[in-house]
Amino acid sequence: MKLNAESDCFLRISESGQDNLQAPQGGTPPRILIVDDSPTIRYTLKKDLLQMGAIVTEASNGSDGLSLAESQDFDLIITDVEMPRMDGFSFCAKLKSHPTKSSIPVVILSSREKEEDIEFAFKVGASNYITKSNARKDIRARVKEILDRRRLLNGRTVLVVDDSSSIRNLIEKALIKAGFQVLLAENGQMALELLGRHSPDMVLSDLHMPVMDGLDLCKIVHNHKDFSQIPFIVMSSDGDRAKMRQLLEYGASAYLVKPFNIEQLVVTAERFLSDHFSRVLNERKHLESERQMLIGSISSLVLALEARDLYTRGHSESVAELVVEMAREMAMDASQIERARVAGKLHDLGKIGIRDDILLKTAPLDDEEWKIIKLHPIIGAEILSPIQSLSDIIPAIRSHHERLDGKGYPQGLKGSEIPLLARMVAVADTYDALTSDRPYRKGFSNEKALAIIEEVKGEQLCPECVQSFLRACDKHMRT
Ligand SMILES: [Fe+2]
Repeated sequence: MKLNAESDCFLRISESGQDNLQAPQGGTPPRILIVDDSPTIRYTLKKDLLQMGAIVTEASNGSDGLSLAESQDFDLIITDVEMPRMDGFSFCAKLKSHPTKSSIPVVILSSREKEEDIEFAFKVGASNYITKSNARKDIRARVKEILDRRRLLNGRTVLVVDDSSSIRNLIEKALIKAGFQVLLAENGQMALELLGRHSPDMVLSDLHMPVMDGLDLCKIVHNHKDFSQIPFIVMSSDGDRAKMRQLLEYGASAYLVKPFNIEQLVVTAERFLSDHFSRVLNERKHLESERQMLIGSISSLVLALEARDLYTRGHSESVAELVVEMAREMAMDASQIERARVAGKLHDLGKIGIRDDILLKTAPLDDEEWKIIKLHPIIGAEILSPIQSLSDIIPAIRSHHERLDGKGYPQGLKGSEIPLLARMVAVADTYDALTSDRPYRKGFSNEKALAIIEEVKGEQLCPECVQSFLRACDKHMRT
């Protein structure tokens, strides 16, 4: 091994790049094992991977690498080829025949650039082969790509449908080795029963089977509201082009002609699933950015509405901040906290539909005018009802003036009939209204407002929400 040339190559790769790694599962950073007999290469490679956010473990030969891989969990292994005690090819082959560790992707990093070495690396099960001369430009992107793919595919379920038990078992073994979970069915009818119970992420189906064949199964899956998005791959010894085209028309994602190489089948399954999930993730990102834009526009409408009245200026923003503090006190997760913020910002949106002579009136309202003001929760809910991405906050908007004792509006809901988020908004709304100036009175002091909130707890306001509000206030006072 030419240490200087190799280490120089690695020393340069760690200087650039923003490819931070996402956790493969459950929010923990990816764990990577480096197996190389060169301390310099281990050091420089480790430095680069640490910068990318990984947890890195080192071994100086294949034998130690194997012991570590057997005793700990890794998301990726990067190994050299020429090492004492056990070389990288033998290490990779042993790992790939291990009953529980075979799905860990292995990247072989070597100074050998011959075609037969590269071929041999894939033969022993490596996911990737990087020559050390290409390491500088390739390693970050390859590591990121492998881990992203693993994160997307890990634990995904594939439903294998074939009437031949030997083919089912062969495919099952290969898919489990690649990290998938597998469901098995002997025919289309059995597959439909499993689809209803387990929601697999992909279907791999034979064409000719008794009871229900692959063609009928494909049609039903494609036309079913819950299953139509599941990638459907057909495997058949029938290479008839017309039939292939017909299946693709029925919604099949791919057609594999038997006999096929089992590795090719696994790679096809991985490719379809990762494309599928990348697409789903992109769609979600797109929807989320649309949602944020909508929230931004509607919030500015509410701000503009409130800005016309000195007494309500900034009210919804203040309510949003208070509800977020309460949500944090209630140990809600990030998405629930975000929902709380939006509900706070938009809770009085419906006032947009109230006539100015009532909304901006400084004198006390008469009964008729109160009736109209009390429509604002319903108007707000109706304005948002066509917007699918905001449907989760509509109940909070509709019910933020309900009272625990059933004397609120618009529906007179009682206790737990009132959505939690609406009960939270009600507490924050009450506090902000009490502490704000009104045409007919000065805003109450913090102490007075808290005393009133305590007083109406149980009848008007939810006691748990009041408690979390008081804890948030207490924390705020102490900081
Ligand atoms: Fe309101």
